[in-house]
Amino acid sequence: MKVARHLFLVLWSVQIIYAQKTAVPLPYAATKTDTSKLAMVVAPHPLASQVGAKVLRKGGNAVDAAIAVQFAMAVVYPRAGNLGGGGFMVIRMNDGQTNALDYREKAPLAAHRNMYLDSLGNPIPRLSQDGHLAAGVPGTVAGLLEAHRKYGRLPLRHLIDPAIKLAAQGFPISEAEAARLNNTQEAFRKFNTRPSAFLKPQWQAGDLLVQKDLAATLIRIRQKGAAGFYEGKTAQLIVQEMQRGKGIITLEDLKAYRPVWRTPLIGQYKGYRVISMPPSSSGGVALLQMLQMVEPFNLEQYGFHSTKAVHIMAEAERRAYADRAEFLGDTDFYKVPIDSLLNPTYLKRRMADFQPDKASASTSVGAGKFQLSKESFETEHTSIVDVQGNAVSVTTTLNSNYGCKVVVGGAGFLLNNEMDDFSVKPGVPNQFGLVGNEANAIEPGKRMLSSMTPTIVEKDGQLFMVLGAPGGSTIITAVFQVLLNVVEFGLDLDTAVNAGRFHHQWLPDQILIEENALSPEVRKELEAIGHKLQQVRYMAVIKAIQKLPDGSLLGVGDPRNPDDDAEGL
Ligand code: GLY
Repeated sequence: MKVARHLFLVLWSVQIIYAQKTAVPLPYAATKTDTSKLAMVVAPHPLASQVGAKVLRKGGNAVDAAIAVQFAMAVVYPRAGNLGGGGFMVIRMNDGQTNALDYREKAPLAAHRNMYLDSLGNPIPRLSQDGHLAAGVPGTVAGLLEAHRKYGRLPLRHLIDPAIKLAAQGFPISEAEAARLNNTQEAFRKFNTRPSAFLKPQWQAGDLLVQKDLAATLIRIRQKGAAGFYEGKTAQLIVQEMQRGKGIITLEDLKAYRPVWRTPLIGQYKGYRVISMPPSSSGGVALLQMLQMVEPFNLEQYGFHSTKAVHIMAEAERRAYADRAEFLGDTDFYKVPIDSLLNPTYLKRRMADFQPDKASASTSVGAGKFQLSKESFETEHTSIVDVQGNAVSVTTTLNSNYGCKVVVGGAGFLLNNEMDDFSVKPGVPNQFGLVGNEANAIEPGKRMLSSMTPTIVEKDGQLFMVLGAPGGSTIITAVFQVLLNVVEFGLDLDTAVNAGRFHHQWLPDQILIEENALSPEVRKELEAIGHKLQQVRYMAVIKAIQKLPDGSLLGVGDPRNPDDDAEGL
């Protein structure tokens, strides 16, 4: 298989020289699963996972590979891979030490609570989603460079050069990318103030996407580090773009941006140790809450996708998302009661009103109650394990497909629309239908609440699994279910990822169900006990690695993204 890949790459080089106007067969192919005794990268695009694998072959560690993959993704997966967004990285080194990096975007200093409301106090439709005002101050470049400063083994240029080459020489886009770019042309035309590489009357699979401006921005980062993005020419280009489009990000915002190392959240589930992301993501808190809420039930005995198991899991999801809406936000601005939310007694009490034969009503569930202690729909994910057994789980995002649709003129990268992840008004749902309150209200310099859930799992003190996903609010429930599919229901990882999923997020009071999830009988039984079901095509897109009992690594990409790729060494 690897030989075939190298042949593909040679053919690709030839194709670049004789670039054709018509579509050509793609010189790379995604592999949904791969196994390796050595190391593994699972990423949303084969060209990016191949970059990661190459870094590992050169002696880079998992953090080096994650950084190189992220830079490559900014080029080959523009819907979500980014320089103009933010993300979270959870790290477990082979000695068991863990760390978590928060490089979430921040509200610009000129942002204020009512910035998306009209004079009557009503949200102005799509103002927090489209165009310049929807962008938060980007965190990705600062985050990747900080991860490199602390953990990197290879020089930075080795990690950026592959992305520069992909941007400067171009790469043939996949069918899925062509379709997405075609669907977004109107928005690109509407919200951009300058021409960009993405504008074209009709894209087709195999067309070369060449991004010269992006290559130049990457070169500035290679030369000057964070200052190549947050200061100097790139920063000026961002601010000029803001001024043309009535955005509010300033040079001061950019210069002030810093990522933060955080202590990962760690919980237990039946002998597994689950390491996940603390706020400003809600992912870790909600995941650990849901796991603890279902732990007392014998889900395995009820059976995979049985009515009883789905009912219990959906009710736990409902309660965790109700707490998310009330209590979760940026801990630099709001005292998130993490200890109380993860307290076993609290979580037991939270399920006390669970009825085995009746759906709860979200109106009566609400957020949990406890004594507050005074002392106290786009994203992308990559899972990596290196030769030494170090593991990285990293999720990054522009929020929606291609973020706010604005490409920074002359700099070639898209800006996020992460401001929509704030609660723009208490109780008003965002694009994912999520509601929020004071904890996630807009404030200058604050990070908007995320659902990204990069997670690493240990068993008996050893690495067991690395997983995470894009997918907005459905990320947390996808990680929850894939983990339970393996550790509770005994599915192999491939089947666990492929299996249909369901999702309850408290409000709206319904279970979203993927087309291929749950039998007609189970659906009927769930409806009979009061659940409202809503079918969707698909939700979050998992990328996972499992360490198998013989020590080998099984990497699994998700069929929900045709470009997901597992690349073993
Ligand atoms: N923008 C999606 C998330 O962070 O949850």
